[in-house]
Amino acid sequence: MRSIIYHQYGEPAEVLHLTEAPELPPPSQGEVLIRVTHRPIHPGDLLGVRGRYRAPGNTAPVGVDGARPGFEGAGVIEAVGAGVDPALAPGARVAFFPARWAWSDKVIAPARFVTVTPDDVADAAAAQLHVAPLTAALLFRAVQDAGARRGDVVALSAAGGAVARLTAQLLHEAGYRAVGVVRSAAAVAALQEQAPYMGIVSTDQADWSKRIYAVTQGMPLRVALDPVGGAVASTLAALLDGGGTLVSYGDLSGQPLSVPALAFSTRDLRIGGVSVGRWPALPDAQRDADRATALRLARTAPALFRVAAEYPLDAIAAAVLHAEQPGKDGAVLLR
Ligand SMILES: NC(=O)c1ccc[n+]([C@@H]2O[C@H](COP(=O)([O-])OP(=O)(O)OC[C@H]3O[C@@H](n4cnc5c(N)ncnc54)[C@H](OP(=O)(O)O)[C@@H]3O)[C@@H](O)[C@H]2O)c1
Repeated sequence: MRSIIYHQYGEPAEVLHLTEAPELPPPSQGEVLIRVTHRPIHPGDLLGVRGRYRAPGNTAPVGVDGARPGFEGAGVIEAVGAGVDPALAPGARVAFFPARWAWSDKVIAPARFVTVTPDDVADAAAAQLHVAPLTAALLFRAVQDAGARRGDVVALSAAGGAVARLTAQLLHEAGYRAVGVVRSAAAVAALQEQAPYMGIVSTDQADWSKRIYAVTQGMPLRVALDPVGGAVASTLAALLDGGGTLVSYGDLSGQPLSVPALAFSTRDLRIGGVSVGRWPALPDAQRDADRATALRLARTAPALFRVAAEYPLDAIAAAVLHAEQPGKDGAVLLR
């Protein structure tokens, strides 16, 4: 089978290439073999290819066998191991997360991490059913855990991104006031059309932090959800009300946070984070509820699962460059 692989950390367009890999063995007990048809390229996938998940100071190279990206995708079941739910039969359309080596023709996935794709959900949306919506569900719970109540203001940076748009939808449904922070006037216009309930400011305006208060009509920020880090997250932390919480979930700027130490003692600032990498270890009931939320969003708000472009596996360099293009509108998928 074909598989995307890299042998050294670096710029994804340079180090990723398509290779022939051995066919996978038959699935074991509790597993299914899936012929993958669609996979999204996530910012987190590219962080991994750049070696950014290694601990600080760890300069260990990629192992001799290379590494293969991808944890999420959609496809068709080809074979099942013993003890698998009969709904996951050969021929069933499914989405999966997490399963290793998703940027390959086939994967073996634990059946408990496979979701049957409903007839009214397209394969391109099914491929995006897990990572972004589940992260949105985690962020929504983080807002609740931070003590925010209906009517409170929640700021979202990189607000045009898939995760932020899904999270804003959940917050809006629950009666929170979402304020989006983007980085260009074009992003303001695009998001305003997609999420008219959201107040939006752009960091390309020098006074963006003051404009937030105009958007909230003077109401303080209770929680800020940030995947950018650097100056954007630091400014949001400074804007938070006393007892407010910054929830970090990404590092798009690659820059550290800068927060005055006194913010913790005098303003009771809290900082935490969420990772979808911890979702598989949640209790079954919580995972089922989160999956139900993801399926509901895919059915009722398909615009949140937009596709910017699809590329074949052998166009991996063009695909990863597109995935990081500023202003792209939707997910970049590998077919
Ligand atoms: N913690 C977790 O478990 C988890 C899970 C999923 C995703 N994430 C993180 O969430 C973030 C967004 O992911 P996504 O899938 O929603 O991405 P996406 O749909 O590709 O959108 C990326 C968004 O980030 C904006 N952006 C990119 N670089 C930026 C920068 N340097 N400064 C400010 N804004 C920037 C883009 O703005 P433009 O529209 O202007 O280009 C775009 O709106 C990423 O950092 C990703 O790693 C974390």
